[in-house]
Amino acid sequence: MPNPRADARKYFLGIETSCDDTGVAVLDDSGKVLANELLSQIDFHQVFNGVVPEIASRKHFETIHTLLDRALRRAHITWKDLEGVACTIGPGLVGSLLVGVCTGKAIAAALKIPFIPVNHLIGHIYANFLTNPDLKPPFIILLVSGGHTDLYAMIAPEEIRYLGGTLDDAAGEAFDKGARILGLPYPGGPSISKAAEEGNPLAIRFPRPLKKEDSLDFSFSGLKTALLYYMKKHPDFPVSDAAASYQEAITDILIEKTFLAGRQTGFRKIVFAGGVSANRVLRKKATERASQWGYTAHFPNVEDCTDNAAMIARAGWHSLLNGAVHQPNVTVDSSLTIEKTLATMKDSTAAKTQENDKRPVR
Ligand code: KG4
Ligand code: ZN
Repeated sequence: MPNPRADARKYFLGIETSCDDTGVAVLDDSGKVLANELLSQIDFHQVFNGVVPEIASRKHFETIHTLLDRALRRAHITWKDLEGVACTIGPGLVGSLLVGVCTGKAIAAALKIPFIPVNHLIGHIYANFLTNPDLKPPFIILLVSGGHTDLYAMIAPEEIRYLGGTLDDAAGEAFDKGARILGLPYPGGPSISKAAEEGNPLAIRFPRPLKKEDSLDFSFSGLKTALLYYMKKHPDFPVSDAAASYQEAITDILIEKTFLAGRQTGFRKIVFAGGVSANRVLRKKATERASQWGYTAHFPNVEDCTDNAAMIARAGWHSLLNGAVHQPNVTVDSSLTIEKTLATMKDSTAAKTQENDKRPVR
């Protein structure tokens, strides 16, 4: 009996290798996640208190084929069942991105299926559609990760407007640097959050930079310096209290500016994305504020907030359904922005339209 799925080609592969997590995911043709394999390299980087790019790319290279095998097995499919492959092309570490992109392009070439490039930041936003497929724009997005703290308004899936962002450190970076000051392990977000569970968030009143201003920008570097000086002056101060107070200040700033963006735009739906959106206190404050103000707050599942391949597959799958085509010549871009990706998409749509216009009308 022939396998009825043999030529159906209705499964979609996602690959994520932008930083220190190797991820491979499989979606079915309804966008459901059938496999989401992830291998963290934290153990190799923790001794250096941060990600070492050379180690990161080597580890991706050593493990990606194992994750591909695992993902196909978990999804109960074979290579022949794949209809497309999405891969993160940036932003991220060049060497790490290249491992994923070379792998994705090779798979696409061998199977003669489209290679769809994905912007990692847009992937983080799409993590929300994994949990909440019915989520519809317009909404405000707080994209808050290790390298980014930005506010956007998503008016339509392909119309995303920048509203404001950090003028110095990202919130995730503030967590990571704060943890280093407190002697807590990398990555700082989860370790500060854990230490803070036992602490008093009102123990130290840290500054809330730019809080009172009307702008939608953030600043975290002064907060980190305030923590450094406080701990130098009070070396025996309980780490749990310092961690809780520091987390309280970061999350306060994020909440104030995000809801200010809601007020300024009139959008009453707030969507959180990126690693820091896993933070328990941030989620609690957002949910409470949303209910007080008559807004709704949306988050990915905690495990989908940090880097993973399912969010990349979901964003790529959306592009494919909306007419994205095989892009074998695309390359990695370590400083890719959402604006650059949207501009490229617009250009390629315009080029396609022009090509269609040139076709003879029968
Ligand atoms: O999105 P992500 O996995 O990678 C980037 O694209 O940057 O975010 C990683 C960042 C790190 O800075 C990490 O400390 C932070 O997210 N993070 C958290 C939590 N989990 C991860 N920050 C606060 N609370 C958490 N629970
Ligand atoms: Zn990320």
